Amino acid sequence: MPGSSTSEHVSLAADWVAANYNPLPVVLSHAEGAWVTDVEGRRYLDALAGYSALNFGHLHPTLVAVARAQLDRLTLTSRAFHSDQLGPFCRDLATLAGKQLVLPMNTGAEAVETAIKTARRWGYEVKGVPDGRARIVVMAGNFHGRTTTIISFSDDPVAHDHYGPYTPGFDVVPFGDIEALEAAITDETVAVLLEPVQGEGGVILPPDGWLRDVRELTRRTGVLMLADEIQSGLGRTGSTFACDLEGVVPDVYILGKALGGGIVPVSAVVADRDVLGVFDPGSHGSTFGGNPLGAAVGRAVVGLLATGEWQQHARRLGAHLEAGLRELVGHGVEAVRCRGLWAGVDIDPGRMTGREASRRLLEHGVLVKDTHGSTVRIAPPLVVGEAEIDILLDAFAAILR
Ligand SMILES: Cc1ncc(COP(=O)(O)O)c(C=O)c1O
Repeated sequence: MPGSSTSEHVSLAADWVAANYNPLPVVLSHAEGAWVTDVEGRRYLDALAGYSALNFGHLHPTLVAVARAQLDRLTLTSRAFHSDQLGPFCRDLATLAGKQLVLPMNTGAEAVETAIKTARRWGYEVKGVPDGRARIVVMAGNFHGRTTTIISFSDDPVAHDHYGPYTPGFDVVPFGDIEALEAAITDETVAVLLEPVQGEGGVILPPDGWLRDVRELTRRTGVLMLADEIQSGLGRTGSTFACDLEGVVPDVYILGKALGGGIVPVSAVVADRDVLGVFDPGSHGSTFGGNPLGAAVGRAVVGLLATGEWQQHARRLGAHLEAGLRELVGHGVEAVRCRGLWAGVDIDPGRMTGREASRRLLEHGVLVKDTHGSTVRIAPPLVVGEAEIDILLDAFAAILR
């Protein structure tokens, strides 16, 4: 049972924080690696990792050291001036992605907005679509963030409703349906925007080969392929990008979350010059985008990923996680979907909701997040070992007993 300190903080939040989230009743004060500690000294395994923003765990020593050093030197210049951090960061990130240019932003939603603006401008200036007519095809069940434009093409009523008037120019097709996608593409289509794995949707995997088919179709029809790898990218699925799993290279990578090492918000759009070259001075920007602190941390994140060790670890441990979760199918779990260290677990709705499962897992010392009714999303930091995956699996088995 939560003690008085926990209830004090929960009630302070109820009094003073807008209710746009409904957090579990646990109040965290410290963390290290895959473990977090609450205000009463209880430890929990963090099996959510800030929705993949903490891929390298809490307080990764290299990332913290880089951030500390940068805090003592220079934190913000705005883009009115250069810093000695931005060029090296963008060079290293572009190299990791095999692309030529980076446009740095802060949050994931800003990077998605930037990709939408990139595609529209490319459509008008390169493809020759009449001004104001560009269309972008998006997927049913998508989650790309919370800005007014992005929620305009969300089919989740909780994210979408009561925020109109909505931004036009988007066509929604079923995720994983290549025929529907082909039918939706017209001469005015400038881009297809997709998540290679729909994270918020419940770790929904497309059919095998779909990403390759999308790549072939977009190339054939002269449409940009925009891959939102904000949650799926940077090691989570056992490769640098989830698109790699099908050997697919999109025109545009949209990155965020783990790029900031769980320390600062860092996001980016990464593409070749023929696409990102559409921007000229003053046509897009952000005061904090590309700031030296974020750039230093982002460059250190890229340095970690460049070794390939994290991706390999996520693959190996992901197989262990998947094998353990599969044993629960038929014992209170209806289905399991895994990619690397990322899993969507559909709890039998007759047994409990995803929220109830998350609450019970909390009591067993494991933090996860429910999504869409009866699904629980698991995304531990990539620093976990087998013993920690076993703690998670044992806790799951215990709540289903
Ligand atoms: C695939 C995807 N795109 C975009 C976003 C939005 O990122 P942010 O919350 O940093 O704006 C998220 C966040 O969960 C996401 O999962």
